Amino acid sequence: MQSLNGKKALITGGSRGIGRATAIALAKEGVELGLIARSEESFEEVRSELTKLGATFYTAAADVAIEAEIQKAVAELETKLGGIDILINNAGVGVKGNFLELTTEQWTNVLNTNVLGMVYVTKAALPGMMKKNKGDIVNISSMSGLKGTEGSSAYSASKFAVIGLSESLMQEVRRHNIRVSVLTPSLVDTDFTRNRVSEPRDPNKFMQAEDIAEYIVSQLKLEQRIFIKTSAQWATNPF
Ligand SMILES: NC(=O)c1ccc[n+]([C@@H]2O[C@H](COP(=O)([O-])OP(=O)(O)OC[C@H]3O[C@@H](n4cnc5c(N)ncnc54)[C@H](OP(=O)(O)O)[C@@H]3O)[C@@H](O)[C@H]2O)c1
Repeated sequence: MQSLNGKKALITGGSRGIGRATAIALAKEGVELGLIARSEESFEEVRSELTKLGATFYTAAADVAIEAEIQKAVAELETKLGGIDILINNAGVGVKGNFLELTTEQWTNVLNTNVLGMVYVTKAALPGMMKKNKGDIVNISSMSGLKGTEGSSAYSASKFAVIGLSESLMQEVRRHNIRVSVLTPSLVDTDFTRNRVSEPRDPNKFMQAEDIAEYIVSQLKLEQRIFIKTSAQWATNPF
């Protein structure tokens, strides 16, 4: 296992849910953080938690779907951190609706955020890793990236695309000692699913954001010669 202490990580969607839990888990390993989300206000909670932990972290308000905002935010965070060793492409949005009900605006929003957002952030962070000949990129897809279900054509299309782009990028950069992995979690108890699932939550049945965070940390700690290309995180006893 390798130590993560002193590494620098950039996390998109680092203010809430899986991104926030991953920020906290990495901070506990001594990782310095750059966090991106659309609004500065949404960092309030994670900011106070990271401060309590004595973590070094910086935040930037930027929309992953807007390339100019992302180029500026990533460049600023990279300078403040003194480089980026780990990129967690986590920011994402969902949309539910039968195919004929989904509007072009909804398709555009979900594809721009979940797919092009990942492209823009990676394009901004990858050159630094290529220069160092080392790095980690963790992309968050979804179970919906492996299997289409009723009412999720746009979300599913975006998450299938994440797997395709991740696997192609992986083949291009592994020779540069850069590990690209993609996660395909099932339901995790976050704002994201609370907005979409109406029944009350049993914490013993739903995976928690902290579970995914722990998984990401353990994966990053693997010796540099090995990485997990694609993995699925499932609840043990869901319903
Ligand atoms: N929860 C699940 O069951 C589940 C399962 C499989 C995969 N996933 C995937 O896991 C990732 C995180 O999901 P989550 O459940 O943690 O969601 P969440 O609790 O809704 O958090 C989403 C995070 O992304 C940020 N964000 C959203 N749109 C953004 C944009 N355009 N630009 C920058 N930041 C943006 C949000 O902050 P702001 O709103 O302030 O921008 C927030 O920090 C997503 O990619 C999701 O598709 C989730």
